[in-house]
Amino acid sequence: MINLLYGFPHPDLASPSADASQTSPLVPGAVRLADLVPHRAASLLMQAPANSVERLHEMAAALTALAPGAPFTIMAPKDRGGSRLARELTAFGCTVSDEARRHHRICTGERPAVLTGVGEALAAGGLQPVDAIFAFSQPGLFSWDRLDPGSELLIETLAAEAIRGLKGAGADFGCGWGGLSRAVLESPLVTSLTGLDVDGRACEAARTNIDDPRFSAIWRDLRASGSGLTGLDFVVMNPPFHAVSREDRGLGQAFIEQAALSLRKGGRLWLVANVHLPYERALDAGYARWELVEDDGAYKVIEAVK
Ligand SMILES: C[S@@+](CC[C@H](N)C(=O)[O-])C[C@H]1O[C@@H](n2cnc3c(N)ncnc32)[C@H](O)[C@@H]1O
Repeated sequence: MINLLYGFPHPDLASPSADASQTSPLVPGAVRLADLVPHRAASLLMQAPANSVERLHEMAAALTALAPGAPFTIMAPKDRGGSRLARELTAFGCTVSDEARRHHRICTGERPAVLTGVGEALAAGGLQPVDAIFAFSQPGLFSWDRLDPGSELLIETLAAEAIRGLKGAGADFGCGWGGLSRAVLESPLVTSLTGLDVDGRACEAARTNIDDPRFSAIWRDLRASGSGLTGLDFVVMNPPFHAVSREDRGLGQAFIEQAALSLRKGGRLWLVANVHLPYERALDAGYARWELVEDDGAYKVIEAVK
């Protein structure tokens, strides 16, 4: 029987069993909870997500995978959903003990024979059609139910700059549910586009949304493992600047460096970012030249040539 681990609980608070299988969609290669045979797993240790609809979905999926009577420990920082955990687990039919340690709430219990309300949680937090974006998406993904204004500015800029046209083989670093990729593929000169994202749910959504033989999505941590691609003609990106809940400027800088490694000489990077983010040094280091193409006061669009 499989022991489940979800995310990275603080080691002072709990240790996963040595043979535990990672199930977080934010860890490339992890086991998908939805793929597990229900009611079989032996135990669960989970660092629950902060977003409440996402958290309920992930807890419902994990509890469904557990065998009746199997022990679970589910924790979250107090101010990132932790203070609601006990109530949420009780609503799923669990009896829990709730402990406060290191600014976390830690709920332990055993999976009851009968779960209540999991179907609703799975439906509310699952991949679903979103009219506003004409696409399938899922709570927990970046800008899950609207096109991000930064991505929108990049799409508009690319359309206006059609003369420099995107063509050949490209990639969308951090593709999310695929809004930017979908727009890029409107150019008939694009021969292939690879979307990469650390979130397996994003890759799945992008594959669902983009029915185009030129598109593929790869579940990959660009900072830890690079893109695995070389010789690209172009890369587009709206790079992340948060890791977990904290601003992490190094993440966007790593994306810019990885794009330089993935492009051919003369290949182009198109990126959009909040105006305050300091990407200039990474651009100077990795590219022959770059220019600020657009600045609407909130977002800037940069084109860099390797
Ligand atoms: C600002 S969002 C942009 C999403 C999408 N391109 C859009 O325009 O809506 C950044 C994306 O990068 C992904 N991401 C964050 N860290 C990553 C990493 N280390 N490797 C790959 N993707 C990552 C996030 O999951 C998120 O989907």
